Formats: sequence, structure tokens, C-alpha cells
Amino acid sequence: MNFGEPDFKTPKPIREAAKIAIDEGFIKYVDLKGIKELRKAIADRSKEDLGLDYDFEKEILVSVGSSSALFCVFQVLLREGDEVLLPSPYYPSYYTMAVLTGAEVKFYTQNFERKFDISKEDIRSKISERTKALLLCYPNNPTGNIISKERLSEIANLAREFDLWVISDEVYSKFVYDGEHYSIASLKEMKERTIIINSASKSYGMTGWRIGWVLANEELIKELTKIHHSMVIHPDVIAQRALLEALKMNKVFFDEIREEYKRRRDFVAGALREMEGLEFVLPKGAFYFFPKFYYQMGSKDFVKYLIREAGVILVPGISFGDEWDNHIRITFSSPLDRLEEAMKRVKKAVGKLRVKK
Ligand SMILES: Cc1ncc(COP(=O)(O)O)c(C=O)c1O
Repeated sequence: MNFGEPDFKTPKPIREAAKIAIDEGFIKYVDLKGIKELRKAIADRSKEDLGLDYDFEKEILVSVGSSSALFCVFQVLLREGDEVLLPSPYYPSYYTMAVLTGAEVKFYTQNFERKFDISKEDIRSKISERTKALLLCYPNNPTGNIISKERLSEIANLAREFDLWVISDEVYSKFVYDGEHYSIASLKEMKERTIIINSASKSYGMTGWRIGWVLANEELIKELTKIHHSMVIHPDVIAQRALLEALKMNKVFFDEIREEYKRRRDFVAGALREMEGLEFVLPKGAFYFFPKFYYQMGSKDFVKYLIREAGVILVPGISFGDEWDNHIRITFSSPLDRLEEAMKRVKKAVGKLRVKK
């Protein structure tokens, strides 16, 4: 229950499309931004999902998962002396990527006591004249939280007031169980200053295929493409053809996954409620719980304890920031019978621990 990936197999039509591409000998270098049909399909899908028009010739870059896009975005936007605002807790690679640019990282808080809500006052207090960009990740890893339109519009106001770029990581956008996914780019005058990052990894069970995309304005895509070119030239062509097929998956496909994952979430929530010494916020999206625990040890020792006592692996909260050492991340993307077995074992193991509030 530690990895951040769905359990389901890449759907058959997608796998078939990849085989066909290989058999056709579709194996040469292609356009640096990605094959044209794929960029067109991404533009269509973005219009459908977000209501936004992106020019497939100028405003889309196909990337190696969302990761190569994220890396290039940090490189293009940030220099030594700049500051960037990341959420805390955070997906660990953001921090590494930001630090590699020489920029300074500041954190805004996703407050556990307020169900991981964020506040404009907190964000405002962390902005200086050196702040260049703010990163949003919704649905969130590791909290499982989503964001309301009201919060997004408060952040949009700050971005306009302080002339900030917004990097919007939307890789879990298909995994929302309560409420809806909104992109900040769809708010007034925000498309120009937002960079949307997405990938096939989570949505289509394609973590190992390494294929994703970035949506941004023409100027930025030009700069991103230069760095991306030096880094990887372009993503795997077989994966590009597979993504082209993936983007044809219909609503029923996502509805079924969402329904199944919601069942798993509700099961884990029920199991956690029966355990003493753990407190959690019900995740509305992604596939993670990020509970707080009240046992007399740090998160790494708690993980080691659970491996030893229960044979279950979770992720220590400290991986997502120093202040989260009394939290643990639980992935609920495994099949229900495995979750049942795991939670039974975790319950037994934590039952032996002393709770200290
Ligand atoms: C929030 C978030 N962003 C980005 C990524 C990178 O994923 P990929 O490069 O496979 O798209 C992950 C992977 O776990 C993630 O959790």
C-alpha cells in the first residue's frame, strides 16, 4: 500500500494500439512537441474536460509522464534568487526539482485540522517580490484533498495581484469521488499564467509507459520544448500512439474505476475508524489517506514496525515534509480483498501500541 499507482491493467485497446505501432514500424524520431494527431487529441480532450481551447500547434508539449514536463517547467520559470511556493505536505519530486534550479522553496500549509484546506492569508504571507510561481496539486498527493472553486478563485486573485505563474498538477483529475475537479486555468484571465501538467500514468493505468503532456502559452511551450529536447528529444513514439488510443476511452471507463475506487476508499475509512490512535480526513480524490497517528514513534519507525508486525508497507509522512512525521500515507488502489487483509493486519499491529494524545 505504498506505491502511487492504480492496480488495473492498461486497457486492451491501448495495448493493441502500441503493438500496431511497433508492427507498422512506427519507430523513428517524430515532431519534438509530440505527434500531431496526439496533440490534436489532447486539445480535444482538454476542451471537453476543462472547457479550454489550446492550440495544438503551439500550446501543447507531449512529455515523458508528467515528470519530464514538471522538471522543464521548474527549469524555465526559476533561477537562483527566485522563490517558489509549494504545498506542504508535498509530492517529494517537486522539492528536488525546485532546489535544482537554485531557487528557494517556501511552503503554504494544507492544514490537517481544517481538513487539509489552504488559506489565502497563509499564502499571501509567504509571497515576496521574489516569488515567481505557485504550485497547486489537485486532487492532491498525499492528502487526497480536492479544491473548491471558491479557493481557486482566491488563489487566482493572488496570482494576478502578484503576477505569479501557477503550475497546476492535475495527474489525479480522473479520480474524484465527492465533488468535481476544477482547473484554475478555467478562471478568468488564468489560462495565460497557468501551466497544466497531466499524464496517462494514473488515469489509464499507464505508470510504466511514461507518457504525459503540458498545456501552456505559446512562449512557454517554446522554452519548454528547447529544454525537453536537450533532455529526452521527445517521448517514446509507441507510448505516444498508445496515449492517442487512451484518449478515446469513454466516460463509462472512468465511471467504473471511480466507483470501484470509492468502494475501496470507504472500506479503508471504515477500517481506520475502528483503530485507536489514528485520525484521518476522508480523501475526496486521488487514492491516498494521510492519517495522523498518536503512537510514540516517528513515521519511519512506524513504517518499519508495520512491515515487521503486519507485513504491510506504507509511506512515512516525513517523506512529504519534515513537519509531517506524525502522519502516514496509505494507498487504497489495491483490490478490496487485499485491502481487507492488510487493514486486518494493521489493526492487530496498532492494537499493541500505546496511544498518546
Ligand atoms: C502529484 C504527482 N505528480 C506527478 C507525478 C509523476 O507521475 P508521472 O510522471 O508518472 O506522470 C506523481 C507520481 O506519483 C504524483 O503523485
